[in-house]
Amino acid sequence: IPQGADLRAEIDRLRKERNAVILGHYYQSPEIQDLSDFVGDSLELSRKAAETDADVIAFCGVRFMAETAKILSPDKIVVLPDMDAGCSLEDSCPPAQFKAFREAHPDHIALSYINCSTEVKALSDVIVTSSSAEKILAQIPKEQKIIFGPDKHLGGYLKRKSGRDMLLWPGVCIVHEAFSETELLKLKAQHPQAPVAAHPECPPYIIDHADYVGSTSGILDFAKTMPGDTLIVATEPHIIHQMEKAVPHKRFIGAPGADGNCNCNICPYMALNTMEKLYLSLRDLQPRIEMDETLRVAAKKSLDRMLEMAS
Ligand code: 13P
Ligand code: SF4
Repeated sequence: IPQGADLRAEIDRLRKERNAVILGHYYQSPEIQDLSDFVGDSLELSRKAAETDADVIAFCGVRFMAETAKILSPDKIVVLPDMDAGCSLEDSCPPAQFKAFREAHPDHIALSYINCSTEVKALSDVIVTSSSAEKILAQIPKEQKIIFGPDKHLGGYLKRKSGRDMLLWPGVCIVHEAFSETELLKLKAQHPQAPVAAHPECPPYIIDHADYVGSTSGILDFAKTMPGDTLIVATEPHIIHQMEKAVPHKRFIGAPGADGNCNCNICPYMALNTMEKLYLSLRDLQPRIEMDETLRVAAKKSLDRMLEMAS
């Protein structure tokens, strides 16, 4: 495997040779973000995957994101540099248990966060991302009963904001769950003028201290437009790379975990993708996302609803 500048040059060569597009999430390493053709939040990456005319999508994110790309673009080859790049929210919602939960509440529709398996998408009525959830929920009639899963913190945030009741699946993101309120308050005391921007996957005791709550792209926009020069960022710290590129004169501080620093908030699944594995995935066109066609078509219905309702 080539190293350094040679590795970057080889990835570039393979990207052209394969007619590939590299889609990167904000939680990827800075070097992967920098060579991605497009960096975005889950909704933006889904849209790019649906629209691209490339033959190959190299998805630098986690597996449910790469699966979403395959559901929306079945004729493309979709590679994920490391097939073990899962997500704790997906793990918290086994399809058989979710099916039983749905069956126990036949008068509810299932509104599901995109951070779930293809099987759970197929069992859902509408998918949402953190950037589209409020807009989509507002389009569902008030009297309609709703199950929301798998993220209980995003679900709880939506309930508080909309005033609507929803039955919540008890899943959490281990990364956002790791922020410490005590340490955040200490950091705020050191930077009393600095606003806090938080992802809605954070627990309520973190959200309560946030001046802005939104998706990764929303937080990035807030960083660009906020008054002042220091921001406390309560989401996965790799997004700070984009903030430093966009507004280099401002200071961005990752919100701390219980140990007082933000390293415990690095997503261990996202971190499995490396430049070397990206190179190999473009060279070998493996590991490749494959799925049963009946399952794909069933999952596509709820994703298509999301794309319509979010537009
Ligand atoms: P975004 O849609 O905000 O990018 O969130 C994806 C994610 O996995 C957050 O943990
Ligand atoms: Fe899943 Fe959390 Fe990682 Fe996002 S940050 S991919 S929700 S484990």
